[in-house]
Parts: sequence; structure tokens; C-alpha cells
Amino acid sequence: MKSDVLLVGQLMPHIIEALDAAYRVHALYKADDRNAFLGEVGGSIRGIATFGQADRSIMDACPNLEIISSFGVGYDGIDAQYAKSRDIIVCNTPGVLDDEVANTAIALLLATTRSIVAYDRYLRDGRWVAKGDPPLTHGLAGKTVGILGLGRIGATIAQKLAVFHCNIVYHARNRRADQPYRYFADLVEMASASDVVIVITPGGAATHNIVNRAVLDALGRHGTLINVSRGSVVDEEALVAALAEGRLGAAGLDVFANEPHVPEALIGMDNVVLLPHQGSATVETRRAMGDLVVDNLAAHFAGKPPLTPVD
Ligand code: NAP
Ligand code: 8YV
Repeated sequence: MKSDVLLVGQLMPHIIEALDAAYRVHALYKADDRNAFLGEVGGSIRGIATFGQADRSIMDACPNLEIISSFGVGYDGIDAQYAKSRDIIVCNTPGVLDDEVANTAIALLLATTRSIVAYDRYLRDGRWVAKGDPPLTHGLAGKTVGILGLGRIGATIAQKLAVFHCNIVYHARNRRADQPYRYFADLVEMASASDVVIVITPGGAATHNIVNRAVLDALGRHGTLINVSRGSVVDEEALVAALAEGRLGAAGLDVFANEPHVPEALIGMDNVVLLPHQGSATVETRRAMGDLVVDNLAAHFAGKPPLTPVD
């Protein structure tokens, strides 16, 4: 008999097809009255497939829940502690997106430091013809890039940046004996020593606003901040103020505190490049992430350990 799986948000069609073939799927996102829907089907649910969201109230509505399979490596939208207390397995999709998220960070880095987007506008607006060449920009060779969070994606960024002849340093709570880069135990000290800081930690309470005014000021008026982690890691008000007051040079941002809303002040800034949370958003990577969501559920319901449970 097919197990019952709750689909919390709308996932890609190939995932929904695979889930439909293997389970009785209950689409919460289609329900007019969420509570009534959960009241009706909650007792039968053994698995959840989600787009990074599963709070305590959803788990409470599903007393027989065994596994939450989430699309995305970040699971800050899932109450994993509570899941653990109920012996509910939480799975994410690590590894398969490292390359693309690292590429997005580097694309933002190049776009920001070389004014790619601003100068595209400069040309299209006719300013090249009217005013001549725009100001020179700064290169990356010989610059120090500080990576905040040298995990799977952070280490991939570091590896890819080698060809740009940058000096890589990093900060995390723990030094990595397997990595050759200089470790800073203190984030402000790393920012002081860096021309660029790339943020790639998880979100959640432990990293909330750790990139604060002190870090931004240490990075300084010639410094560039790239954030591809979570908006919550950077104090967004402090970031806007630092950019507006010229205390920070530039920023490349894929993530924001209140997505999809972006502070109006950032929209008007030429030294800022903005992306609508595109880190993993390629056809190939999203397909691999979706496959992992399905494979984690399949392993569990076949009585095997899931492939990628969170720690
Ligand atoms: P990971 O392998 O778990 O690496 C996380 C890194 O952050 C580790 O180096 C960890 O080292 C460090 N870290 C954790 N907590 C910290 C803290 N409080 N202070 C300083 N460093 C801390 O994770 P990953 O697979 O690289 O993914 C990282 C994050 O990227 C995800 O959680 C997600 O939020 C984000 N992400 C964004 C996109 C996007 O589309 N923009 C796509 C994928 C992922 P220590 O444990 O030693 O501190
Ligand atoms: C996804 C991400 O777009 O993996 C992550 O943590 O931020 C992105 O890859 C997002 O998680 C979709 O839920």
C-alpha cells in the first residue's frame, strides 16, 4: 500500500510526478484552509516533501510523521531540533549544488568588482557615446578574499578562486586541518585583512546578523561584500547604511532578510548587484536536488537509511 506524503510547497513537476507514482500525495499548498486540510489528512502522513519549510505546527499536525525531505541544503526554515526530539528524520540536498552556488558567488564577485551590470546600463543608456569611457575598476589578482563559512560550498568557492590568483583566508567556528588557507578565529579581524568577504554559512539563530556594522566597517570603504548564504546572516540595515555612507565599497547579494522584498535603497545603488536567490537555480542542479528529495524518501520507505540526513 502507498504511504501518505504531504507536499508542503509546489516542487518541480518531475518531483511531483515521481512522488505521485510512489505515494498518496496530499498537496498542502493547494488547500484553501490549511488547518482544515491538515486536520483531515495529518494523521495519515508519514513523510513530508518541502521547499525548505516545516515548522513545529506542521509536525504537530502529523503525529505519525517519520521523515521530512527538503529541497535545498539550507534547512533554517525547518525546526530540526523539534524534529529530532520526535525522532523525525530531516534530509536536505547537500553537495549537488556546490558548483552552481560557487559559480553564482564568483559571478557576483566579478560583476560587482568590475561594474559589469552598472556598465551594461552605462552603454545601453548612451552614456558611453555621450560621456566616453567610464571610470577604471579594480582587479582580483593579489587581492585577499575572506570566506565566511568554509564548508562544502565555501571550499568549492575557494578552489575555483585559485585561478583568479587571489589570496584566500577564512573564518568559521572551527579551523579545517584539511584546508591550506589561513584561518581567522575572529570575523572582524578577517574582514580587516580582506578586500572581499564572501558569506556562505547556514542561516538560523547561530549566524543571525553576524555580519554586523563592526564587520562591514572592518571590510571598509574599498571592500566588497558578497552574500550567497541567507539574508539573515547580514545585518541588512547596517549594510544599507554602510553602502549609503560610503563606509563599504560595494555588495553583490543573492539573498535578503525578507525575500522577495529587497530594501528600496539598494535598488538605486550602482555599486550593488542584486539577484533573486539564484544560487542553485539551473535546470541541471535543481533537477539533481529534486532527485535527492525523492531518493531520500524512497530509501526511507524501503527500510534503508536515507542518503543525506542532516547532522
Ligand atoms: P556546510 O557544508 O554545512 O558549511 C557551512 C560552513 O559554515 C562551515 O564551514 C561551518 O563551519 C560554517 N559555520 C556554521 N555556523 C557558523 C557560525 N555560527 N559562525 C561561523 N561559521 C559558521 O554548508 P554548505 O553546504 O556549504 O551550505 C552553506 C549555506 O549556504 C546553506 O546552509 C544555505 O543557507 C546557503 N545556500 C544558499 C544558496 C543560494 O541559493 N544562495 C544555495 C545553497 C546554499 P563551522 O561549523 O566550523 O563553524
Ligand atoms: C534553494 C538554497 O533555492 O539550497 C539552499 O539552501 O538556498 C537554494 O538552493 C532553496 O533552498 C530552495 O528552497
